[in-house]
Amino acid sequence: MNDSTRAGAQTASNLVGRTAWISGPVVRANLSNQVFMGEQVEVGAERLIGEVIGVSDQQALLQVYEETDGVRPDDPVYGTGLPMFVTLGPGLIGSVFDGIQRPLNVLQQRGAYVEKGAKAPPLNPSQRWGFTPRKAAGTTVQAGDVLGVIQETPVMEHRVLVPPDRQGKLVTVAPEGEYTISDVIAVIRHDNAETPITMAQHWPVKRQRPYLEHLPPVVPLITGQRILDLFFPLAKGGTAAIPGGFGTGKTVTQHQLSKWADADVIVYVGCGERGNEMAEVLMDFPRLTDPRTGRPLMEKTVLIGNTSNMPVAAREASIYTGITIAEYYRDMGYHVALMADSTSRWAEALREVSGRLEEMPVEEGFPAYLAARLAQFYERAGRVKTLAGPEASVTIIGAVSPAGGDFSEPVTQHTKRFTRCFWALDKELAAARYFPAINYLESYSGYLDDVAEWWHSHHDPHWKDLREKAMQLLQEDSRLQRIVRLIGEDALPDDQRLVIEGSRLLQEACLQQNANDTTDTFCSPEKQLGLLKAVLHFVDRAKEVVKKGAPIHRIRETAVREELVRAKEKIPNDKLELLGELNAKIDREMDALFGEYQKLK
Ligand SMILES: Nc1ncnc2c1ncn2[C@@H]1O[C@H](COP(=O)(O)OP(=O)(O)O)[C@@H](O)[C@H]1O
Ligand SMILES: [Mg+2]
Repeated sequence: MNDSTRAGAQTASNLVGRTAWISGPVVRANLSNQVFMGEQVEVGAERLIGEVIGVSDQQALLQVYEETDGVRPDDPVYGTGLPMFVTLGPGLIGSVFDGIQRPLNVLQQRGAYVEKGAKAPPLNPSQRWGFTPRKAAGTTVQAGDVLGVIQETPVMEHRVLVPPDRQGKLVTVAPEGEYTISDVIAVIRHDNAETPITMAQHWPVKRQRPYLEHLPPVVPLITGQRILDLFFPLAKGGTAAIPGGFGTGKTVTQHQLSKWADADVIVYVGCGERGNEMAEVLMDFPRLTDPRTGRPLMEKTVLIGNTSNMPVAAREASIYTGITIAEYYRDMGYHVALMADSTSRWAEALREVSGRLEEMPVEEGFPAYLAARLAQFYERAGRVKTLAGPEASVTIIGAVSPAGGDFSEPVTQHTKRFTRCFWALDKELAAARYFPAINYLESYSGYLDDVAEWWHSHHDPHWKDLREKAMQLLQEDSRLQRIVRLIGEDALPDDQRLVIEGSRLLQEACLQQNANDTTDTFCSPEKQLGLLKAVLHFVDRAKEVVKKGAPIHRIRETAVREELVRAKEKIPNDKLELLGELNAKIDREMDALFGEYQKLK
């Protein structure tokens, strides 16, 4: 593909027709030349970026990704001969793009806001990158092989790969030195044809990038969030949905994952929910530091954002731009996590465009293809063996924001079908300032069995049993709560009241986690297990004591209970020996109670 097309200075485009009818992001054009489905086009004198979404003999339907208010009937339409694509190469990390990959940080430097039709290449064409070759001339290379590396940021090694559709003998490789993205750094010969390779390439956004094979999702994506890792684990290469009404913690959860998940690269796609929310993300993100390295988080992040003054259609483009960039880094052998906040805004864009096309809506105004689009998006997640062999992954975490927190609406329901983790955020929990407001009865993970072996071999052979035991406690509690609502807690026998007490302790000491607390914001797998075991130990010991006749309030009033609740914030990840002391204290206090009631018998 031609380097200078998408948002480039000069486009290799031809006049293909003229606009006939304009309705928001949808434009109908009379054709004088052929275009194809999915072709990238440019509309009007401002050459707004659009895409062909329907063609007949003499007419084409276009979806335009920029505001069309200046477009008039009979304006020119240019074809590019290319499908919608992104530019891939060094410089993506740390960038802030809009949906059609315009570099917002560059454009914003030029003016207060991004103007329509504003053009700037996605990657800086004049920046020089230090390239170190990894292959010598004369060697035979396959698609995906590493030709050389670039230190893209202090924490990111960018691997320049043989493009997916290339192989052959290396005729030349550039010596170590500084090059721009359009300099030829290698020439590959195959079937007597020589192909120059640069550090940048293009890829059509709607086509999944190839890999060798799918691998089972058996490695957890550790998030440092106890309720996720212990109870509803996500796998590297897996998919998760975070549905939740307004203010329930979708964005906080996505930010926590961006900061803490053990992913090499984060792609954050923001479709602003509130008016200036995306503007906040664009301000906040560049200020965050990666707690693992102390370096700016942007050194491993690509931000794709639609601010509220951008047209809805760009939201759809941003999803594809994001996932394609994620796959590109996956192909280098990295574990990539993509956050989409919120996919509901994207679905609304589909609804709006569909409405303007006067298509037959199926559910709540959404088009019939909503499900297919969501499926295609989540299908691009996966743990794979890349073309060159190493293991890598793309994990997708999509927030869904149903109006009023009603999960029966179409976007939540379809997303549920195509994702394997469902982290249901609960309005009532959030209102009670119970965070993360994840409803453990409605949430689930389809990766439990997949990742159990990893936990068993890396941390504790009883991980699954411990989780099972804790889950039972929570479920039994919720059954009892129904009775409590009718007759009150005091009317229950003490062994049942202890279940309620134990579940309460489990929630306070383990499930709740404060994103704003410097210690509690990230909990290592060891500490997660330590806290869980201490809570279960407490409950087991309390059972013996209650059997001896101790009333529940004596259990609740133990000093060690309070300490257990505070341990998440008081015990740092590197001082886990303190958990041993806590367990010893549980034993001492329970022994004392046991002795006291033993004597009374
Ligand atoms: N894990 C958490 N720890 C502490 N506070 C949280 C947590 N999750 C959410 N909150 C609180 O809830 C508020 C709303 O969360 P937010 O993520 O903006 O909601 P949403 O994106 O679902 O509208 C936050 O400003 C914060 O005060
Ligand atoms: Mg939000």
